[in-house]
Amino acid sequence: MLRVGLIGFGFMGRMHFDNYVRLMEEGYPLQLAAICDVQIERLKNGKADGNMATERDVYDLSAFRLYDKIENMLESEELDMVDITLPTPLHADIACQMLERGLHVLCEKPAARRSADAFRMAETAKRTGKKLMIGQCLRFWPAYEFLKECVEDGRYGQVKAGYFYRGSGAPKGWFLDREMGGGCLLDMHVHDADIIHWLFGKPEKVSTLGRNVIPGSGYDIVSTNYSYGDGKVLNAQADWTLEGDYEFEMTYRVNFERGNLLFARNEVKVNPQDEPGFVAELSPDSGYYRQIRYFADAIVHDRPIEVCTPESAAGTLEIIEAEQLSADRGGAWVEPARS
Ligand SMILES: NC(=O)c1ccc[n+]([C@@H]2O[C@H](COP(=O)([O-])OP(=O)(O)OC[C@H]3O[C@@H](n4cnc5c(N)ncnc54)[C@H](O)[C@@H]3O)[C@@H](O)[C@H]2O)c1
Repeated sequence: MLRVGLIGFGFMGRMHFDNYVRLMEEGYPLQLAAICDVQIERLKNGKADGNMATERDVYDLSAFRLYDKIENMLESEELDMVDITLPTPLHADIACQMLERGLHVLCEKPAARRSADAFRMAETAKRTGKKLMIGQCLRFWPAYEFLKECVEDGRYGQVKAGYFYRGSGAPKGWFLDREMGGGCLLDMHVHDADIIHWLFGKPEKVSTLGRNVIPGSGYDIVSTNYSYGDGKVLNAQADWTLEGDYEFEMTYRVNFERGNLLFARNEVKVNPQDEPGFVAELSPDSGYYRQIRYFADAIVHDRPIEVCTPESAAGTLEIIEAEQLSADRGGAWVEPARS
């Protein structure tokens, strides 16, 4: 039985909680043993903010042991892994401490506020021999897994062009402090930058336009062009200033030599060049569920973490840092570091 401690019970903590409960209900050999949040007393009966809905409005945590300090949780519990759903600047130090204490760590994206800290996390995992995975959940999202398969097996030929997008209203609280959240670039657009990295490797250079709208938050609207040696035309945009009833949206359009894929409204439409188009049949499970299950499987069966290695998630942050520099320079081309 894999004993899990969940650290952070805000929006993402609840999203992960829903999926641990589902895994336990399905009979997966896992037990969500404890939940820790500095505000646990206030949060245990409330609703979390976020740009997507979680499953429940009110969370009954009476079946779980609750803590408001990580140290107290570690002293009282015999855990195998922790799941870190804390504000971004806390990820690196707490993940490293947990790895040093002999625990496997699943940690929310972005890996850390800066790439150097993300590489420190990767190095700590390697040295301690414990598993670490960053929750770059799109790598487990069926629509993006399908795209990855099409890119890898070449069924529609090479990619000629691609456009990736996500948008929502603005988050609240610490997210809007540039030093903590890193702006829309690090917090939201990192998903698409990570997918582009995962699909095509590191770009040779990036050019980003960014616009600040909310005082102190960093860039709130961003658009990046990615340059690769083969000339494919790739762009990703994110905007977290879409207020009113907009809610949340993510899409992609990828054009191959012999067809194109369009992901919109939770559906992937496949348009092969010489055949009628069709909707891809994909798993209804979310990337959150699939990433947690993948990580738990890796521990239970002692398998390596391959879909999202800590080094590759850290490499995505080097792309984001190049994008930040490019936006600061008005869109100049910048080469990402290659650690
Ligand atoms: N994968 C995704 O799609 C996705 C979506 C949203 C957020 N995120 C990421 O998840 C992380 C958390 O975001 P969120 O929206 O849940 O934030 P949040 O502010 O809703 O939740 C963070 C929680 O951490 C708690 N906390 C802060 N310091 C603590 C400490 N020292 N010990 C214990 N608890 C502490 C806070 O009380 C809060 O409840 C961020 O890194 C964010 O970028 C990922």
